[in-house]
Amino acid sequence: MTDDLLARHRAVLPSWMPLYYAEPIELVSGSGRRVTDAQGRTYLDFFGGVLTNMIGYDIPEIREAVQRQLATGLVHTSTLYLIRQQVELAEKIARHSGIPDARVFFTNSGTEANEAALLAATNHRRSHQILAVRNSYHGRTYATMGVTGNRGWSASALNPLQVAWLHSGERLRGLLSRLDPADRLDAAVEDLREVLATQTAGDVACLIAEPIQGVGGFVHGPDGLLAAWRKVLDEHGILLISDEVQTGWGRTGAHFWGYQAHGVTPDLLTFAKGIGNGFALAGVVGRAEIMESVPAISFSTFGGNPLATAAGNAVLDYLLDHDLQANAARVGAILADGLRAAVGGLDCVAEVRGRGLMLGIEFVHPGTVEPDPALTARVFEACRAGGLLVGKGGLYGNVLRMGPPLTLTEDEAREGLAILVDAVRSCADGEVAA
Ligand SMILES: Cc1ncc(COP(=O)(O)O)c(C=O)c1O
Repeated sequence: MTDDLLARHRAVLPSWMPLYYAEPIELVSGSGRRVTDAQGRTYLDFFGGVLTNMIGYDIPEIREAVQRQLATGLVHTSTLYLIRQQVELAEKIARHSGIPDARVFFTNSGTEANEAALLAATNHRRSHQILAVRNSYHGRTYATMGVTGNRGWSASALNPLQVAWLHSGERLRGLLSRLDPADRLDAAVEDLREVLATQTAGDVACLIAEPIQGVGGFVHGPDGLLAAWRKVLDEHGILLISDEVQTGWGRTGAHFWGYQAHGVTPDLLTFAKGIGNGFALAGVVGRAEIMESVPAISFSTFGGNPLATAAGNAVLDYLLDHDLQANAARVGAILADGLRAAVGGLDCVAEVRGRGLMLGIEFVHPGTVEPDPALTARVFEACRAGGLLVGKGGLYGNVLRMGPPLTLTEDEAREGLAILVDAVRSCADGEVAA
């Protein structure tokens, strides 16, 4: 059955849209933090459809909110009419964004959210010069690919923006990694000053950055980096966009937004993925004077439609009512501590890193920082064989990524941890034997 579907998939869908696993999976149902495939095999899900099924599967409060909206007969009205659910969700997001006098524009995807943020910033500053960070991912349109610093995700060099690149400040690779950790922040600031002086005409519109790089393998620079950069940006009036598509809504445990780890408030913040728990919902929040700089109608047919925002309101209410940020901190610590203790010391593991329920394991050839994507792929398959879905990522495809629903329980964390540890150890032993 799945073989046939795979053949049909390959015959009709483009090959640049990759499938996970040597034998791809068709998921047919879900409940809580578990999904079941077409063969009836159930998996514990530590990837949540790429950090998107943030509350989990078949959650009554969300299902019922969506069903109530469907029962009105209205899935879509267009933003030409008032949408109560949209206004309510915008009010809540504005309130929680930390951005004063905020305006919210809803889109269907993170890509479009970043496009909208770049549109506002470039118009406000009357400049199309942008600063972006190496190893970033911001989306799949020309502008968002243009600020994506990852060759594997850059399908075109066409770019409406003029982009200058900053070092990410990551610990394992790149020029800054060779420095003493205490010197990395200053070096990153020096890099920014040098880039501004040598690669721009000065009047840059904005810096766009992920507080933790998602597709890039859950890599991040030192805490406080965004604030340190911000001081320099402020000298020039350059805006800061925080791409919170993966880091938002409390996933990082210690903070509701990734930017808060840096002690800075961005001018614009973009969100997507988790807020719809699978419904297409994303957007940008920004200070009114910046958001109002857009000089013409900018209209999204589906953005923030009644069904998506009904789901979004239910998701945000559930998240806040159940304090899932605290759960992410508590359950994430069980996973992180368990992984560090069990596999952190292996020669093939360069780093167990991340925050809250956003955790990565980076695999390298022993004694080096040379990426080992083949070992990563074996561990990835072994997790699946053990009944656990995880993600893969990183510039070199050598990072396992865990981003489970924020409702993950302590027991489920321990269950997944045991599968992960077995998978890593058995593959690492195989490596030594080979
Ligand atoms: C940080 C970040 N920004 C933007 C995007 C693009 O979002 P979408 O795929 O919803 O367009 C992604 C998607 O993975 C992302 O991780």
